[in-house]
Amino acid sequence: MNKAVLVCRAVFPDIVDRLREHFEVETNESDVVWSRDELIAHLQGKVGVFITGTQPIDAALLEACPELKAACSMAVGYNNIDVPACTARRVLVSNAPDVLTETTADFGFALMMAAARRIAESEHFLRRGEWTKWSVEGFAGSDVHGATLGILGMGRIGQAIARRGALGFGMQVIYHNRSRLTAATEAELGARYVGKEDLLRESDHVVIVVPYSVASHHLVGAPELALMKPTATLTNIARGGIVDDAALARALRDKRIAAAGLDVFEGEPALHPALLTVPNVVLTPHIASASLPTRRAMANLAVDNLIAALGAGPNKGRPPTPLNPEVLA
Ligand code: GLV
Repeated sequence: MNKAVLVCRAVFPDIVDRLREHFEVETNESDVVWSRDELIAHLQGKVGVFITGTQPIDAALLEACPELKAACSMAVGYNNIDVPACTARRVLVSNAPDVLTETTADFGFALMMAAARRIAESEHFLRRGEWTKWSVEGFAGSDVHGATLGILGMGRIGQAIARRGALGFGMQVIYHNRSRLTAATEAELGARYVGKEDLLRESDHVVIVVPYSVASHHLVGAPELALMKPTATLTNIARGGIVDDAALARALRDKRIAAAGLDVFEGEPALHPALLTVPNVVLTPHIASASLPTRRAMANLAVDNLIAALGAGPNKGRPPTPLNPEVLA
């Protein structure tokens, strides 16, 4: 009998068919979000699983699913995967880097621009039928071109945002990251390294693109928001939990900062209720990578990883983007 794998959310059927060429496949076409116990139940007898950025793959789950050999995610962020626990059990795990970089950077830029130029706020005003006359200061926001762009986290997506800012909009780009880029990359991007506090003080627009971890939990909370200019915007396209959403809602309400753009939330899909009561925030449902070609590329990359990790297909034994390649040795 063929090996069995699980696809735990609804995924493009033609891409799932690529798995059917090699394995028996259980899918979740109704796209129910399974609890941990339901996921464990569906994983019984499965050697591989196609996951997204939310299913927890950790020691307790691996303990309950001893046949599992590979868990391949279509997300780039992998804070839902305990990589050392997987390595200890020789379970290959992979994420989906690179294929979503430019699409996600486009979205981060769009969200920042929407916050700066008050696009969502003014559209809501118009839809409410409140637009009765043009006015000089109506929805006057802040400029993006020529402004100072502060990027927290300077991985692939941060760098793609820096290029847009420097080359397309003539922005002064500053960044803060755990490790500093080489002088050549800084010169190519036109980006200057600064400390986190300086970044918050100097930026007109702060964009967050750091991975979520214990170290980045509430990286931006009330003390950090207090450092920002009252005219500044804050955009989070990284993960919920990096920004203290309650503190941000207060800062927006009190006009401590001008506006925010949020694609990710603490405890999503639930939102901190105060965020829904402040007008100066653009809210989107975790869609930064959601162009159709990119979501397909992400799903295809997870499938490539799963097929190869389970010893099938042309890349047999050589998944393209493993997080723990030592498992393959
Ligand atoms: C989306 O948030 C991802 O990590 O791919």
